[in-house]
Amino acid sequence: MTSHDAPRSATAAISLHDFTDIDHSAESTYVAALEAFDRLPLLRELKALAIERTGIGPGRRVLDVGCGFGLETLRLAALVQPGGAVSGIDLSQDFIAEARRRAAAAGLEVDLVPGDAQQLPYPDGAFDVARVERVLIYLEDPGRALSELVRVTRPGGRIAIIAPDFDTNTVNVDDPALVRAVLAHEADTAVVNPRLVRDLRGHLLDLGLVDVEVASRMVVFTPDLGARYFGHLGETAAAAGVVDAAAGQRWTSTIEALHRADRLFGAIGYYLFTATRPA
Ligand SMILES: C[S@@+](CC[C@H](N)C(=O)[O-])C[C@H]1O[C@@H](n2cnc3c(N)ncnc32)[C@H](O)[C@@H]1O
Repeated sequence: MTSHDAPRSATAAISLHDFTDIDHSAESTYVAALEAFDRLPLLRELKALAIERTGIGPGRRVLDVGCGFGLETLRLAALVQPGGAVSGIDLSQDFIAEARRRAAAAGLEVDLVPGDAQQLPYPDGAFDVARVERVLIYLEDPGRALSELVRVTRPGGRIAIIAPDFDTNTVNVDDPALVRAVLAHEADTAVVNPRLVRDLRGHLLDLGLVDVEVASRMVVFTPDLGARYFGHLGETAAAAGVVDAAAGQRWTSTIEALHRADRLFGAIGYYLFTATRPA
């Protein structure tokens, strides 16, 4: 993180590509973006449902895979007291360092380590609950990460996965053909597995899991977050030749005008999958 990142962090464009390599990105931009995203009420509803459906509470041993800098991890660490324990793992050394700072400041003991979701450094059956939120879409081998999630969950333990479907993106730019072209390009290029949720129930069943349940929310962006996420997508699509330069500029100016007038509306669909590893 460099000093000039800080003033930009609340307004800078968010590029999801950076989540595959946070340590070489402007970390402060992504800390601010994840904090803003974390506050979205409809996403909070899915997080709360994940806690409820996996039975996280006092005494539980919980793993948060791809924990970022610990926003949900630290909340879970408070919930499992007394007697429980929470571990968090993330690819980013910077995020883990920030998570450790936050845990220390909150007086919480959390086991936080850098590492890869596709190769977890925990013994078989170490956790009562294992969760992974907004991470599988970035992985080269999400199937491997799912197998690892199951391996480290004890028989009878619970699993929770929160992930978006990128083809559900929507924004109120008043040109449906342009919206379709720009958002299809975003879905096709922003992350490795944009539509992974569609086969997730099948993958969980193939892994031998039972009690597979699905819930969903259309997560509505705040206007500021919507502007930061959607604002640059027209330019990106124009640079890739998906729309022409004039259309790309029209996209940018339309989103800016909607934002200035407090009329910007954007959303994306998120799913929660929960399941049990059979005893
Ligand atoms: C969108 S963030 C979500 C963070 C956190 N789960 C949350 O809900 O705030 C995606 C996270 O996945 C992490 N990540 C990406 N690839 C990973 C991998 N192979 N193993 C573990 N974490 C990974 C990134 O470093 C980043 O922290």
